[in-house]
Amino acid sequence: MHSSFPRVAVLVGSLRAGSVNRRLARALAALAADRLAFAFVEIGDLPLYNDDLWTDAGAPAPVERFKAQVAAADAVLLVTPEYNRAVPGLLGNALDWGSRPQGKSSWAGKAAACIGASPGAIGTAAAQVHLKAQMVTLGMIVMGHPEFYLSFKPEDFGPDGTVVNDQTAAFMNAYADAFARHVARLSSGK
Ligand code: FNR
Repeated sequence: MHSSFPRVAVLVGSLRAGSVNRRLARALAALAADRLAFAFVEIGDLPLYNDDLWTDAGAPAPVERFKAQVAAADAVLLVTPEYNRAVPGLLGNALDWGSRPQGKSSWAGKAAACIGASPGAIGTAAAQVHLKAQMVTLGMIVMGHPEFYLSFKPEDFGPDGTVVNDQTAAFMNAYADAFARHVARLSSGK
């Protein structure tokens, strides 16, 4: 990882050890490592959102840690599974914590994108429609294109997590380029 590369906070909406979305995110992080520095941010330890957990001393420690990690990043990448044609509660919960307290949202003005994988034919397209609308509402500056819906085939990924399907690897490279340009455009104010 090169310290001058833009830092991308990666949130994966699955806790499963065998998560295909985590595999996808790791593969993209490896492919993009000469352009972007991906930092995986833990969201599984965040409590379920409850306004009462905010006190004068702040929020529970995992929330404070989470918000600090997002604040330190130049951009955010959301990696979403699709649950019942929508975004899993895990990821929604993290978005809710980041959006508070009012006026101190972690999301406003952040360069952002979302991707996702599912074994199904439409590869999280339905979930991402919801997610992109929410991201815009949260004030993220969302990269709309290219879209990234992966119908996950285990044989396309090697045991070490690399992508062995050339077409998928080429698409992921192009995606990383586009996201790096999106982040650079925003940080240069153009
Ligand atoms: C799913 N799955 C699923 N897949 C899909 O393409 N569309 C959907 O609406 C749903 N709905 C759904 C609901 C629930 C509660 C579960 C547990 C699963 C299947 C899902 O895509 C599959 O389990 C993925 O492997 C989940 O992603 P991770 O955990 O592997 O990253």
